[in-house]
Amino acid sequence: MDNRPIGFFDSGLGGLTCIPSLMKDMPCEKIVYFGDTARTPYGSKATTTIRNFSMQIADFLVQNNVKMIVIACNTVSATCLEDIQFKYPKIPVIGIISPAAEKISSRSCPDNKIGIIGTKVTIESKAYEKSIKKLNANLNVFSTPCPAFVPLIEEGIIKNDIMDMTIKYYLDDFILENRIDTLVLGCTHYPLIRSNIERIYKDLKIINPSEEIVHRIKKCLEEKDMFAKGSDYENVFYASDLSENFVNMIERIFNATDVNIKFKNLDIETVGG
Ligand code: DGL
Repeated sequence: MDNRPIGFFDSGLGGLTCIPSLMKDMPCEKIVYFGDTARTPYGSKATTTIRNFSMQIADFLVQNNVKMIVIACNTVSATCLEDIQFKYPKIPVIGIISPAAEKISSRSCPDNKIGIIGTKVTIESKAYEKSIKKLNANLNVFSTPCPAFVPLIEEGIIKNDIMDMTIKYYLDDFILENRIDTLVLGCTHYPLIRSNIERIYKDLKIINPSEEIVHRIKKCLEEKDMFAKGSDYENVFYASDLSENFVNMIERIFNATDVNIKFKNLDIETVGG
């Protein structure tokens, strides 16, 4: 048993999309979440910058006594999962790409045309392709970056024509030309536009890594006998810039007002230090 909280982080509010499945499946677990809203988006930044930001946040979570670090961000998972694992060998560090790749390869066959969408950094890293091909070399995988999605989502521009037009701009040709039948939401912000995508492309099967990572968390806690059994810890959500959307999203997810939302201003001077 381990009642300490699980640490989650993302460049912004995207990682929050992992939380509902976790709370449903493991209601005794508590969370410390960090959204780097002051420096989002990560997905078009240099990998050294992403690594420096991520290391800072991992340090912050460890100082907050977390029992596990969950990288609720595809861009960070594609860039520096191993660096964080190396720095904290005693704490389980879980990335989001490998649990999603497991699901994709177990549910797909060579006839499927699998489309991965994500940030520029995630797509250029080919992390999904590599992970999927390791498990099943015969699958057909296509990918395309959608860099405008994250800024729009962080702005709360979701349920309207601007978002629908942006989705069509990125995905119409991609889906048609490659005859995509399975679409992987390879950025934790994208589940927030899942219903738009499902409305526009009715026959697509969607795979949501934000749900798949929760199975991996559970398996890891089980193997290490680290489940919480009811604790005095509370759920705490930090942001480097406490935007209105971030607060609204947390309140929507928890459907309650008794959530502890704290402001944490990262010291940018310490980047790389
Ligand atoms: N939500 C993140 C991901 O899964 C990062 C998006 C960004 O900051 O560009 O990739």
